[in-house]
Amino acid sequence: MPQKTQLDNRSQHTSADGGPGPPAPIFGLTETRSELEWPAIAGMPTKPILAIYPGSFDPVTNGHLDLIERGAKLFDRLIVAVLRNLDKDPLFTLTERLEMLREVARPWENVEVDVFDGLLVDYARKRNAQVLLRGIRAISDYESELQMALMNRKLEPRIETVFLMPAESYSYLSSRLVREIARLGGPIHGLVPPAVERRFRAKVR
Ligand code: PNS
Repeated sequence: MPQKTQLDNRSQHTSADGGPGPPAPIFGLTETRSELEWPAIAGMPTKPILAIYPGSFDPVTNGHLDLIERGAKLFDRLIVAVLRNLDKDPLFTLTERLEMLREVARPWENVEVDVFDGLLVDYARKRNAQVLLRGIRAISDYESELQMALMNRKLEPRIETVFLMPAESYSYLSSRLVREIARLGGPIHGLVPPAVERRFRAKVR
């Protein structure tokens, strides 16, 4: 006799003619999360998720901040990890980039700012992180982000990359453009946090 599977053991709905209907859905849309206690049903142990949000942050923009806020809500802990050695010469020193990030990330108790160098996956392993967080603003970001995510997965299959989208109003915003606008004397108000705006004023006088 064929073995009964877990799916076969689900309760049966009754159809209009009184006969057995289709099996009740496992994750029916009508049940609330508290009724289902989904991690227990899925047989998954609940564990705190630590995510790493890596980047150059030269400097942190309102788009980055939007992603930090979303990441802090979604994950138990979030490490904003600043790459120490950039290929290109940064406008802001590592110390300045860290100071600005620490200042703007202060409202979130579960967010830490740290530095890394070398391979990102090595750093993530060292910190016991399960997730790498990256932002995707538009389709144009997707190709390079996908390449990086898949390469990181090849290097360390136990770590997942999660992409989040910032608000549409930040979809055109990048650190590079902000640096350029500031250098050419344009307004950067609303593009970066006030703390970063002040640093810019001091730097590009
Ligand atoms: O803010 P950025 O410049 O887009 O961030 C890029 C960053 C720092 C995430 C990426 O360059 C990186 O992870 N560098 C670390 C070196 C590494 O792990 N390289 C292999 C990536 S597939």
